[in-house]
Amino acid sequence: MSKCIFFSEQDRTFTIHTRNTTYQMQIDRYGFLLHLYYGRRSEGCMDYLLTYADRGFSGNPYDAGLDRTYSMDALPQELPCQGTGDYRSPAVVIKNADGSYGCDFRYQSHNISDGKYRIPGLPAVYGEETEAQTLRIYMKDPVTNVKMTLLYGVLPELDIITRSACIENACEGKIHLEKAQAACLDWVSGEYDLISFYGRHVMERNVQRTKVSHGAQVIGSRRGTSSHQYNPMLILAGRDTTEDTGVCYSMSFLYSGNFKGEVEKDQYGQTRALLGLSDELFSYPLMPGETFYVPEVVLSCSGSGLARLSQNLHLCFRTHLCRGKYKDCARPILLNSWEASYFEFTGESIYQLARQAADLGMDMIVMDDGWFGKRDNDDKGLGDWYVNEEKLGESLESLVGRINALGIKFGIWFEPEAVNEDSDLYRAHPDWAFAAPGRPPVRGRNQLILDFSRKDVVDAIFEAVCRILDQGNIEYLKWDMNRSLADCYSRCTEDQGRVMHDYVLGLYDFLERLVQKYPDILLEGCSGGGGRFDPGMLYYTPQIWCSDNTDALDRIRIQYGTSFGYPASAVASHVSAVPNHQTGRVTPFKTRGVTAMAGMLGYELDVRTLSDVEREQVRRQIERYRKFEPLIRSGLYYRLTDPFQDKAGAWEFIKEDGSEVLVSAVMLELHGNMPATYIRLKGLTPGSLYEEQKSKKIYGADALMEAGIPLPEEMGEYRARQMHFIRIDK
Ligand code: GLA
Repeated sequence: MSKCIFFSEQDRTFTIHTRNTTYQMQIDRYGFLLHLYYGRRSEGCMDYLLTYADRGFSGNPYDAGLDRTYSMDALPQELPCQGTGDYRSPAVVIKNADGSYGCDFRYQSHNISDGKYRIPGLPAVYGEETEAQTLRIYMKDPVTNVKMTLLYGVLPELDIITRSACIENACEGKIHLEKAQAACLDWVSGEYDLISFYGRHVMERNVQRTKVSHGAQVIGSRRGTSSHQYNPMLILAGRDTTEDTGVCYSMSFLYSGNFKGEVEKDQYGQTRALLGLSDELFSYPLMPGETFYVPEVVLSCSGSGLARLSQNLHLCFRTHLCRGKYKDCARPILLNSWEASYFEFTGESIYQLARQAADLGMDMIVMDDGWFGKRDNDDKGLGDWYVNEEKLGESLESLVGRINALGIKFGIWFEPEAVNEDSDLYRAHPDWAFAAPGRPPVRGRNQLILDFSRKDVVDAIFEAVCRILDQGNIEYLKWDMNRSLADCYSRCTEDQGRVMHDYVLGLYDFLERLVQKYPDILLEGCSGGGGRFDPGMLYYTPQIWCSDNTDALDRIRIQYGTSFGYPASAVASHVSAVPNHQTGRVTPFKTRGVTAMAGMLGYELDVRTLSDVEREQVRRQIERYRKFEPLIRSGLYYRLTDPFQDKAGAWEFIKEDGSEVLVSAVMLELHGNMPATYIRLKGLTPGSLYEEQKSKKIYGADALMEAGIPLPEEMGEYRARQMHFIRIDK
């Protein structure tokens, strides 16, 4: 591949060029690794950006002698460590064997190679030797001998740079990592906004944009999962940056547990953004010779607005993070039993749903929660992974066989990480569940969490899950996780500060084994909907149930927030019944379909009760979806409105060459004598004409982009409109 990482002996700089961006750092005279620049592509050495001044109370490294103008407290850094005189928030904190805090890593050597590095036991973006390069910078603390390798993975065509670090205890005694974050971005100048994604169960990934100012803004999770409350990603945008113009940066954490993102303007007006593992409830021991990989952060930068930034992430995650059979092909259109019948079903009723699914043109039936143990409600049975044949009235093998005979695939629900106290598993192994000694545990949905930091526990549950999967032709698995972790005390270690991270490693180990053993099974992630909707999970599960909220209007907002960091191919989205089970709202059937078509379409309602008219609507919806599915899964995505502000929610999928466009819009508000809302299209080929396929009307690309299309077309609450344009090539 052509090179994208360059080292200049002369000025000791590393320069990373991607198609549209440049990242530069420098080994300074004392061996510190200073950050120089990240932004639009630029040539030359940027060390002129560094300024030096005698600044009170910003200390100086000993090597600087009597030079009071040199301070780590003021200089931009690649991975700031606690202990060098930088009093801003550090990325790395180490407690040494002698009990002292502090580390001071200096440059030793480096290596540039083709292909993207991998990380043992952790998710990571991948890239072949023809697509990516890796830079390893070897650093060492000369006093303690602790080593740190900084890892940079570059996918130049995608404008993606990844960061990770490997810390090795090369000293005599046991050390503890007290903080470990993979990426820091230091800007010496500029005014920025922070865009973050907050939420709650059934209302995930709302968008917040605030001014970066003095005083840290911190997002994160201490729930053991990435959480509904904050998504593990940050966007830093110039004050004037919009969807279509201006510079912006994203930081996405490939991790599904506790995390912390921090953004702060320092005393000199410089901005620092950090992302990585949370330091709360974290104190990770490293024995001599042991290494620790800091989970990866993916960086991207766009010089042309937020839409482009999102598209960079979409392409990266879809093509260089997701894996497996379903990565690049149409996903089965499934019917999920949850909102259709909750815990009340039999093998026969599932079979009847499957029959209807076949008749309506769907591909798969998913038997959700309730098929195992004594699981007739959510108080009991979790952990008992054996089929309740009495409830089903038949064996799993027989049920799957009957369903397959209809031409329908079969999928199943699991929640491997949790256990009810009222279960055979808990009665046999109460010590497998997290609980602090002598303290009654915090319950969540009446369940406890299994100690996945223990290999014996992971092994046992893995075997139980495999025993089920081997009973029939199971082609899909929904991996659920329905509470936040608490009482994370593990009976098998003296170092409780490692448990929450080891839990995530245990989860990844389980998922990796599953992916390897059952490469043809489609895995869908879920955590009470979108409580673990993160890029770490996407490495194992190419799609994730976006939210337990299936209300079309709320979903438009949830999917809007999700779209900033995740491709449509990752978003599982279902049409459900009205009044909606989460909000009670009634929306038209078409609107629910158009909304669900912003992701991987499925259904989640009792199709047995549909009228003939509705059945016909489902069939037409499915037909339409199949036609657009490749465009939805792999086209460029544009947000056309902000559904938190605007009267309509609208979005667009467009073929990369601009030849085909699908625009979807839903009116969120209606008023008397209402002015028209104009939806402006994006990314069309300027100067060309487009034909709308239903009306056969011809439109100029530039007018569609400059003036837009007026809405609503017809009166009525929450009406949806979908328009399909094809470019007329002369
Ligand atoms: C979670 C999921 C739902 C459903 C239930 C089953 O809430 O998000 O889709 O699977 O669990 O208990």
